[in-house]
Amino acid sequence: MVQTAPRTETTAIRAEYEDRFAASRALHDRARRVIPGGISHDGRHRKPFPVSIERAHGARKWSVDGHELVDFAIGHGSLILGHNDPGVLAAVEAALPHGTHHAAGHEAEIAWAEQIARLVPSAERVKFTGSGTEATMLAMRLARAVTGKPTIVKFEGHFHGWHDYALKGEKPPFDAETVTGVPAAALGTVVVLPANDPDAVDARLAQGDVAGVILEPSGASWSTIPLDDGFLAGLRRLATAHGAVLIFDEVITGFRWAPGGAQVREGVLPDLTTLAKIVAGGFPGGAVCGGADFMAPLEFRDEPGWNATKKIRHQGTFNASPVVAAAGLEALRRCADPAVQARCDELAARLRAGFNLVLAERGVPGFAWGDSSVFHVALGESCANRPTGDLKHPAGLSAAALKGTVASPHSESLHLGMLIEGVDLFAGGGMFSVAHTETEVDFAIGAFGRVVARMAEEGAFG
Ligand SMILES: Cc1ncc(COP(=O)(O)O)c(C=O)c1O
Repeated sequence: MVQTAPRTETTAIRAEYEDRFAASRALHDRARRVIPGGISHDGRHRKPFPVSIERAHGARKWSVDGHELVDFAIGHGSLILGHNDPGVLAAVEAALPHGTHHAAGHEAEIAWAEQIARLVPSAERVKFTGSGTEATMLAMRLARAVTGKPTIVKFEGHFHGWHDYALKGEKPPFDAETVTGVPAAALGTVVVLPANDPDAVDARLAQGDVAGVILEPSGASWSTIPLDDGFLAGLRRLATAHGAVLIFDEVITGFRWAPGGAQVREGVLPDLTTLAKIVAGGFPGGAVCGGADFMAPLEFRDEPGWNATKKIRHQGTFNASPVVAAAGLEALRRCADPAVQARCDELAARLRAGFNLVLAERGVPGFAWGDSSVFHVALGESCANRPTGDLKHPAGLSAAALKGTVASPHSESLHLGMLIEGVDLFAGGGMFSVAHTETEVDFAIGAFGRVVARMAEEGAFG
């Protein structure tokens, strides 16, 4: 691995960004006076300041500074149909005049659940939540209720939202014992293991206290740290053998890896699945789904004491609200067509290969990789199987090194440089929608070449 020294804070790229995105800076300065950090999601933090967006359409968005940007953040991955998809907009517009909240059940909610059950093979029952974070929280609670055991096993670098049981081991150092603001008692019920080590999982499950095993079936952070072939199937066997609930967190992979998610693409079925993002058509929402037995603790029963003390509590003012249900149902109707995922995959593969060719031609250390319709970029370091084409599984780098690429100084410079060129990346990479075309891909590859050349000229790579 070649690790070059981080560059100084002030580069020409950064100076030009500050100059050209002055209106974004002004808004960020105003935001910081009332919103801690000036942002409402830590993933939007960026030095020297993040870009502010005025409007979006298709695969593009426009900054308050008047710059048109190809959007690879695409609603943090929720907009596989692109911004303002006409079908989703029409569904929302049709739902709005009927009221935004009925404080009651409604037909769209049922049709939405039925559509999820049709697409996701392990889903017999579906419960809606307000977000992916709430979905993983509920899934962990279900696992604990079903098994009567306390412990959740998760994996290094895997992200499951930001509730108390989700954050341990998400960022390097993976063995950190504390998470600010989270009680040690809560953290003590979560065990973090390295992925791709079935023996470690077997040994931990053998202790007999594990309720559930949760993971991103793409590998951590949408395939940043890929899983070895056979690891998911091995987990399936181990979870069954030890009586633990297997939870696939498909908040990103759901309806993106395949119409039925990563469980279809990888051919391994979990007991419970968590969903958000695409499931709600770009609106706030999430869901937990799974086999009827695994969802049973959510049922009401005519049995003394059950509803008051044994049933799993589930509330949430905005769960499956009518407008969100309308958007989600329409999005999932469209995502049932595998051509949606195939098209996005094809574009992402073209971009990953294009980026790798740029790096090889310019002799710059780095590589682009990813699975399905997502991509990641590492600059300033090389992997053992450095390609000139597409790459799914970079060899020779630790999980911490791969996860660390997102927050590296090179990644920061790349992000600013790409914004100057008219491209908004997402967490050191990006995701595709059907609104993207070869035009956006080739534009991004050209932009990437110019930014990498500029970084090289500025001495970023030694
Ligand atoms: C895999 C995964 N799980 C859970 C979450 C949390 O979802 P939300 O942001 O809707 O709370 C995310 C969010 O990015 C995610 O990527």
